[in-house]
Amino acid sequence: MGDLTVSATQAFYALQSHLIDSGDADAWAATFTADGAFHSPTYPAPVLGRRDLSAFARRFTETARAAGEVRRHVVTNVVLHPGGAEEAQVSAYLQVIATDSAGDTRILRFTTVHDRLRREDGRWRVHRRDIARDAPQPPVRPLPAPTKGTATMTPYEGTGPARVVDRPMEVVHPEMAGRTAVVTGAARGMGRAFTAALAARGVNVVAADINDVDMKAAAEEIARELAADPRAGAPGRVAARRVDVVDPEQHEALARAAVEEFGSLDYWINNAGVFPYAPVGEITAEQMSSVLDVNVQGVLHGSQAAARHMGPGGAIVNMSSVSAVRVRRGRAAYCASKAAVAHLTESLAVELGDLGLRVNSIAPGFIDTEMTRWLQDDPEALAAALDRVPLHRVGSPEEVVGVLLFLLSDSSRYVTGHSIAVDGGSRHV
Ligand SMILES: NC(=O)c1ccc[n+]([C@@H]2O[C@H](COP(=O)([O-])OP(=O)(O)OC[C@H]3O[C@@H](n4cnc5c(N)ncnc54)[C@H](O)[C@@H]3O)[C@@H](O)[C@H]2O)c1
Repeated sequence: MGDLTVSATQAFYALQSHLIDSGDADAWAATFTADGAFHSPTYPAPVLGRRDLSAFARRFTETARAAGEVRRHVVTNVVLHPGGAEEAQVSAYLQVIATDSAGDTRILRFTTVHDRLRREDGRWRVHRRDIARDAPQPPVRPLPAPTKGTATMTPYEGTGPARVVDRPMEVVHPEMAGRTAVVTGAARGMGRAFTAALAARGVNVVAADINDVDMKAAAEEIARELAADPRAGAPGRVAARRVDVVDPEQHEALARAAVEEFGSLDYWINNAGVFPYAPVGEITAEQMSSVLDVNVQGVLHGSQAAARHMGPGGAIVNMSSVSAVRVRRGRAAYCASKAAVAHLTESLAVELGDLGLRVNSIAPGFIDTEMTRWLQDDPEALAAALDRVPLHRVGSPEEVVGVLLFLLSDSSRYVTGHSIAVDGGSRHV
């Protein structure tokens, strides 16, 4: 096995030879452009032989015919993804172009096609199954019998205008019991609420915050609350850790701690965030960088560490915000960072989907935590903020918990790359 190159031209000729063989040469012209040659140190030449590609090409032809009066199709960016010594994947973008009697052309279809190559008897052969259908699926874990009855989220007892929430929510996910989560920014606010709700459902939690003193106190408090709760059956354990989310190595240490302490890593919640005030005319490069470091790099590095240690079926949830889609004066850095989180979530979902992991984000609106305390302490600012909330009240951390549990649980196991707003409708105002 030496280093070898399979040229784009070779792929093109194989495609064209099929078109000629199939008698479509007059009606068809195939154009192939590629962003360079394929390099593979793993595969003996030629990886994409004429015969292999003609099966691939036949599929293009069938697709194109189905699209109507077709004169030409264009295949761009054929890419080979080596998957091991015995298996490879090939993907290509296909444009089907029609020319009408006046000679005008239009694109009828723009699609991606995939094929899988397998080595049989020393030859590479195309397997016609679509890779998307063939992708590794997370194991479907049977639901264990509930060990602790129904987990009920207590009515919200905050002091602010979210108090109107007076009915407990029933959110039951028995399949979560015994699994392990990492929650960042867990010393207070939503991170603390997430930690308590997960532990109440039997999930073991590595709860981490830059403020390790408050983190330790919060973890002890949660354990006491659950022990005293008559509805709690077998709560999960909460291990408090210090983390500065700007440091990738500290994320790695968190992931390892989860696996070492609890035996697995199933859920990761990138919740830590900062919300500084700085009008656009005054914001400095340092301020901008520090917000992006915590709110965006923190999410990226957390997800990378999670991906290294999670198995298929694992779920990551990132905290975006209504500020990703609605500008707030004086919060340019924050708004930009949360828009980045929403988009980064989509990239993570696409790429980590290959590992069977799901990645989604939550976009809270105005939630009653320390982060928004300043607003709640200023009656005029509060009234103005509530004017932009169709439900006319602040949300509670408990109400965000409901969506978090959905996104982590098996109930959402075909949901990825999505952002769910928990904002009382404020993104529309
Ligand atoms: N409260 C809201 O109205 C609201 C709205 C939209 C989005 N959010 C987002 O939800 C998440 C949680 O918000 P919250 O209201 O609970 O915030 P909060 O300020 O109450 O808590 C944030 C926690 O993150 C920790 N933290 C900050 N920097 C850190 C770092 N570098 N490393 C580790 N931990 C760090 C803090 O110590 C704190 O405990 C944040 O990402 C926030 O931007 C909040």
